[in-house]
Amino acid sequence: MKGLVCFEFGPIDTLAIGDLPDPVPGPGEVVIDVHAAGVNFPDVLIVQGRYQFRPERPFAPGGEVAGVISAIGPGVEGFEAGDRVAAVTLWGGFAEKAVAKASQTLKLPASIDDVVASGLFLTYATAIHALKDRAVIQPSETLLVLGAAGGVGLAAVEIGVALGATVIAAASSEEKLELARRHGATHTINYGQEDLRARLKELTGGRGVDVVFDPVGGDLAEPALRSIAWEGRFLVVGFAAGEIPKLPLNLVLLKGCQVVGVFWGSFAERTPERNRANLAQLIAWYEAGQIRPHVANAYPLEDAVLALREVQERRVQGKLVVTVGGG
Ligand SMILES: NC(=O)c1ccc[n+]([C@@H]2O[C@H](COP(=O)([O-])OP(=O)(O)OC[C@H]3O[C@@H](n4cnc5c(N)ncnc54)[C@H](OP(=O)(O)O)[C@@H]3O)[C@@H](O)[C@H]2O)c1
Repeated sequence: MKGLVCFEFGPIDTLAIGDLPDPVPGPGEVVIDVHAAGVNFPDVLIVQGRYQFRPERPFAPGGEVAGVISAIGPGVEGFEAGDRVAAVTLWGGFAEKAVAKASQTLKLPASIDDVVASGLFLTYATAIHALKDRAVIQPSETLLVLGAAGGVGLAAVEIGVALGATVIAAASSEEKLELARRHGATHTINYGQEDLRARLKELTGGRGVDVVFDPVGGDLAEPALRSIAWEGRFLVVGFAAGEIPKLPLNLVLLKGCQVVGVFWGSFAERTPERNRANLAQLIAWYEAGQIRPHVANAYPLEDAVLALREVQERRVQGKLVVTVGGG
């Protein structure tokens, strides 16, 4: 089958369209004819060998897909060939066929098309897990989202609003903030130009924010933590800026706050039934019009490297998707 192949870990420019063996489903697995695959920041790290796991080479990147089941492994119940599904694959999605665990696969209602579905699960599932399960955010609370126009950031904006919070979106450009406003943010901060702490103090009347959602890290984490309210929760989601921040623990003591780790992949692996409940909630919100995933662009498989470059160079707003075959 055709795929975007990573022969050896390295820069994304070393990826090339090539042949890979057709995947065979193992116990508990399904094979999906891929129609569309979501592009995520971790894809860029995985092909460089800089992520939490390192696939055997050669492999195709691509952590989430939508398509149709074409083969079922031993022991799989509840799915059959021909089912329209979305699944988390971790890698392998930028190819004509991908293998996924049945436990990480969900049937799709007709209301969601392949392009939207392929970009819905990873980012939105991370954001709902972070805000609902980890922060236990309450309707009256304020939520600061850093990198608010990125994949997980924009998902956090929408889910924060769906859960009744007042959302303050922070990002590096006016264009990105406008997108966050269109997706429900009440207030915005341009951290490329404005002082994050001063603006948060102003916006919250000195009280601070209840929940910080941080997929960026770097220099933003500490000022965000300094701006947290009493008993606030600081969600450690990712380090898109490249630098893993070191936080002064005296701040955690003084603010009576919590620094809370978010590792959605491990959550979905350890407690698949809780993850599926979250995915069902996302689909219900989608059907009710409460979340509207922003797909900025869809690239054919042949141009998948261009999509990865857009992500690496910080240019994406919302999601990019790669379309494959019939997608
Ligand atoms: N914990 C989990 O379970 C989990 C799950 C999924 C993803 N993640 C992590 O979350 C982070 C964001 O993922 P994503 O898919 O949302 O990425 P994305 O769409 O590329 O968004 C990342 C955002 O970070 C900001 N940023 C700041 N410095 C950057 C830099 N040097 N390069 C790129 N972006 C930079 C950008 O916003 P501004 O330009 O506005 O600053 C960008 O919009 C990644 O670190 C990813 O690994 C974690």
